[in-house]
Amino acid sequence: MNVRRGVVIGSSVLALVGLMLCPRLSFGSDQLRAKEVIQQTCVQCHRLEGQPDSRFNLKAPDLIWAGSKYQRSWLIRWLTGKEAPLYAKGYRWDLTEVPSKHPMVTEAEANALADYFAEHNKDPRVKIGAFDLSKVTKFEAAFGGMAYKAHACLGCHVIDENGKFIGGPQSASLVAAGQRYDQDWLFRFGQNPQDYTPHSGEFLADATEPQLRAVIGFLMVQGVKDFKYYEPWTSAEFGMANVDRGKVIYKEYCSQCHGATGKGDGPAASSLLPKPAIHANIPFEKLPMEYLYNVVNHGGPAVGKSANMPYWNLTIGQQGVADVIAYLKATFKGVPDMAAAQRGGEGAVCVQPRQTAKAPDEFLTKTNPFPASAGTIQAGKELFLKTAQPVACAMCHGEKGDGKGPMGAALAPPPRNFTCGVMMKDISDGQLFWVIKSGSPGTGMMSFAGLPEEQVWQLIHYVRSLAK
Ligand code: HEC
Ligand code: HEC
Ligand code: HEC
Ligand code: HEC
Repeated sequence: MNVRRGVVIGSSVLALVGLMLCPRLSFGSDQLRAKEVIQQTCVQCHRLEGQPDSRFNLKAPDLIWAGSKYQRSWLIRWLTGKEAPLYAKGYRWDLTEVPSKHPMVTEAEANALADYFAEHNKDPRVKIGAFDLSKVTKFEAAFGGMAYKAHACLGCHVIDENGKFIGGPQSASLVAAGQRYDQDWLFRFGQNPQDYTPHSGEFLADATEPQLRAVIGFLMVQGVKDFKYYEPWTSAEFGMANVDRGKVIYKEYCSQCHGATGKGDGPAASSLLPKPAIHANIPFEKLPMEYLYNVVNHGGPAVGKSANMPYWNLTIGQQGVADVIAYLKATFKGVPDMAAAQRGGEGAVCVQPRQTAKAPDEFLTKTNPFPASAGTIQAGKELFLKTAQPVACAMCHGEKGDGKGPMGAALAPPPRNFTCGVMMKDISDGQLFWVIKSGSPGTGMMSFAGLPEEQVWQLIHYVRSLAK
């Protein structure tokens, strides 16, 4: 009896405290205030209900789904006047050429409005969790960036590329889109933009779901500092990778090109250029996991290499990729004398037979626009040894640039020996520039198309500094 009474008293005390702390009451009045602001101000230009309609029938973007579209912090900044206009030519560019100055509200009102939208303007079509931000990989975002350009998005939406705003300002700016949109809303929008903005000049891309996800991933990292990319090689599948299963996969799916013992002599190899890599010569433990994962999972072109190296994700799945990589690491340790050769630099062929294609004329005439200063060479060195993507040059060309990197021995023809002054002096800047940007067709020299021009020139200065 006593006990029960204790519980009853206890819980009513709790309820009382709860009532005192509960923001419900003030929330209620905030909601009233928000409604007032909306009815007095916002609805002069915005619609909060109704069916999607052409921009030419509207005064401002619809707020019908405002409770699902924005990240709250962005919405508060926007409403308190801390964000740049989204439509550089004005929302109604048929009526004006200038962006509008948006009405401002106080911080408290902005918060009340955000609460109001969250309560009343949810978009029922949006599936919470449809887009998992924590699974966006660096590769996916970069691929999304390419798809963004390949699908004309740049034509109508501005983005920030290395600090420069590029693209056509016809529609909403997508600069710092990752701070603005809710990812699930953005994904739903991408599935069919016309559900939101019919006949506004919007564009329907013919994108597969993986492409759409990549583009959304790309947009969601725009303006997000230190975005934490997902690293698939840290997933559970890799934790339980199995060498024996990997061995079976290698036999069934890899040996046809790379050969039963990894010598690059499978039946398909004879007519391929470049030749399948000689796995037997690669010390796989030394390869960065990111590169290894991307070339096996996403295929050659994903790392600037031959399209004859297939993408395996669909065929063998994440577990299969993990297993076959475990097999590569357990089986292939590289050429024994490579290490010695790297240390002594002995046996490095100086003048290599060079059948490299000649760069097109517009490249051949280029000269390095940057001075060969210590700073430039240092920047080139950093890229060469460590940071160049998809993989550092040193992995093939060697730490010393003598062509004896861990992956070099897998390739025919072998990587260029940059220490060979006699040979390098006859190769022009423009030629080097072209090969780095587009790769050397039919060889293992991949394209570094993603490197900004300035970095390519820094690399060229560094490469030249190696010649003896
Ligand atoms: C005088 C017309 C006008 C009024 C009043 C107005 N807005 Fe806007 N609003 C606009 C225009 C125009 C844009 C497009 C902004 C641009 O060009 O960058 C916009 C953009 C927005 C956006 C971003 C929309 C998007 O998804 O692109 C939000 C959110 C917004 N307004 C909320 C409000 C709220 C809340 C109120 C009421 C406090 C309000 N606006 C009052 C004209 C108005
Ligand atoms: C021909 C011009 C055009 C092209 C190309 C285009 N868009 Fe749009 N986009 C629009 C228009 C118009 C809207 C509707 C919003 C508005 O009225 O400006 C829109 C809306 C959007 C929005 C929502 C903006 C907002 O805040 O409401 C996103 C996100 C978007 N587009 C992404 C893309 C992507 C990704 C691509 C490439 C696959 C693309 N767009 C290609 C014109 C274009
Ligand atoms: C249809 C032929 C073919 C098949 C099958 C194939 N590969 Fe390849 N692979 C290639 C070619 C060609 C290259 C060289 C690409 C280049 O250098 O541009 C390559 C390169 C590679 C590389 C990169 C080495 C480097 O130098 O960067 C790895 C790793 C690799 N393959 C692993 C595999 C694995 C694992 C499998 C089986 C799951 C496989 N490959 C199946 C043709 C194939
Ligand atoms: C996967 C291995 C690999 C990587 C990584 C690699 N290279 Fe190469 N590179 C080669 C091979 C193989 C050749 C020889 C190609 C040929 O003979 O045409 C080569 C040739 C070259 C040449 C010679 C061009 C000529 O006309 O003779 C240059 C310059 C070059 N690479 C620069 C780089 C730079 C800079 C990087 C890093 C950003 C890099 N490479 C990364 C394999 C690689």
